[in-house]
Amino acid sequence: MSSNSPAAVEMSGVHKAFGANPVLKNVDFTVNAGEVHALAGENGAGKSTLMKILQGVYQMDQGQIFVNGNPVEISDTFDAKAAGIGMVFQEFSLIPTLTVAQNVFLTNEPTKFGLISDSKARELAAELFKEMEVDVDPQRIVEYLPTALWQLTEIAKALAQNAKVLIMDEPTASLAKHEAEALFALIQRLKAKGIAIIYISHRMDEIYRIADRITVLRDGVRVLTESLTEVTPAQIVEAIVGRQAAAHLVHQDRSDKIRPEVVLEVENLSAGPKLRGISMQVRRGEIIGLAGLMGSGRTELVNTLFGILKPTSGTIKVNGKVLAISSPKDAINNRIALIPEDRRAQGLVLDHPVTENLTLPLLENLSRFGLLSNSRILRRSKELIKQFSIKAAFPGIRVGSLSGGNQQKVVIGKWLGTDPQILMMDEPTAGVDIGTKSEILDLVRQIADEGKSVILISSELPELLSVSDRILVLKDGAVAKELDRKDIPTEEFLQLAIQGAA
Ligand SMILES: Nc1ncnc2c1ncn2[C@@H]1O[C@H](COP(=O)(O)OP(=O)(O)OP(=O)(O)O)[C@@H](O)[C@H]1O
Ligand SMILES: [Mg+2]
Repeated sequence: MSSNSPAAVEMSGVHKAFGANPVLKNVDFTVNAGEVHALAGENGAGKSTLMKILQGVYQMDQGQIFVNGNPVEISDTFDAKAAGIGMVFQEFSLIPTLTVAQNVFLTNEPTKFGLISDSKARELAAELFKEMEVDVDPQRIVEYLPTALWQLTEIAKALAQNAKVLIMDEPTASLAKHEAEALFALIQRLKAKGIAIIYISHRMDEIYRIADRITVLRDGVRVLTESLTEVTPAQIVEAIVGRQAAAHLVHQDRSDKIRPEVVLEVENLSAGPKLRGISMQVRRGEIIGLAGLMGSGRTELVNTLFGILKPTSGTIKVNGKVLAISSPKDAINNRIALIPEDRRAQGLVLDHPVTENLTLPLLENLSRFGLLSNSRILRRSKELIKQFSIKAAFPGIRVGSLSGGNQQKVVIGKWLGTDPQILMMDEPTAGVDIGTKSEILDLVRQIADEGKSVILISSELPELLSVSDRILVLKDGAVAKELDRKDIPTEEFLQLAIQGAA
């Protein structure tokens, strides 16, 4: 690609406000054919909004878009598709009951293939996957596919629509490590074919691995665009948060904070084939990390402790007493909280205000003490908004209008507000920006210091290593290893334990 050929996409002088809230201010952004351009910034910085303008979901108030040097008008998603812009949605756009092939060629408008029969669709999809060098069976019904293959199907769908520019908004947030590897390899091949890729991510290691350039937005302003060979991670973090970030990933020895009482004791807990004879103890003030591959049983374990999954055998004791937890209600009554992995779907009422979402469990809990006054709800919400730096124009705004990461903070704030004695968190920092990540990890330590017990699932090992006092490595639904934090010398050591090689 010669340096003077026009950019695949150029956005210039983009302004966008929602009501009185300016969200993008004079933003310039370009991506070249065959380039991976990372887009980074804090939760609410404007990344998704900028990309939704490019996709035709939102209209900009001011600015211009050029595709291959030609000015284009993008007033809806059809215009965007016609201009060769494809989106791999975070909230997938596939129809679960149809086959992969049907989904790939499903569209309201004629594609370059025109209207095609099922058998033709199968054939063409198979060709497309072969070209992508990935192994997906076009005949399978989408709802039975693993998440990683949904994403590949989305990518295939965009390519079938002849996309020359692919937008990926936090594509690895829902992927296991080996699935992410497969995606990275595919991105390399797409690059080689001259596809331009815009890659939104909060993960620095990923950005360095796959991106050529990075643009950082802060509060709707572009503060950095640089080739990744010319910029250090510290410089990027500084651009993102506007100051030098604290070293939140340093492990702090908390052994003096852990009390002798066993708060939670699990014996031989099984739940069908997914959980097989788990035994563990958690003491007061202790932070237990759960490590393991996707499908190792981490989520199933916390879901069983929270009453979502039914145990088929074994016992759960809390404070020495055997409990029958058959629903989340039982768990909540015993002051056990779970911040679920799929927060947006399970944790929020998108059409309701931030205030209500933040105080929902409180409302349920406190209703027996009479009504909670509106002013108390507002006061409590404002405290939580401040504590979690939730970016909301005002406390009564619809939670669905917050950025992805800010929606997650609302869920976390909501559960912490219930004052649990055992707090379980499933990937609490996925999709959360760097500054907030350290706030959440500090908060986890603080909660444990106050005498609560924490069970934390995280696929980000540096994070797990920084807060955990003990780490249980799960494999095939059983505890494969139990490691004291001080016996884990390096991240590689833990990685090997997880792969089952150590
Ligand atoms: N439909 C909408 N109505 C009102 N405000 C909105 C709407 N969509 C986004 N916003 C606001 O625009 C700002 C930028 O949001 P955006 O989703 O672009 O952030 P982001 O950089 O993608 O963040 P994240 O990393 O959390 O996904 C936020 O303050 C958000 O509340
Ligand atoms: Mg976003």
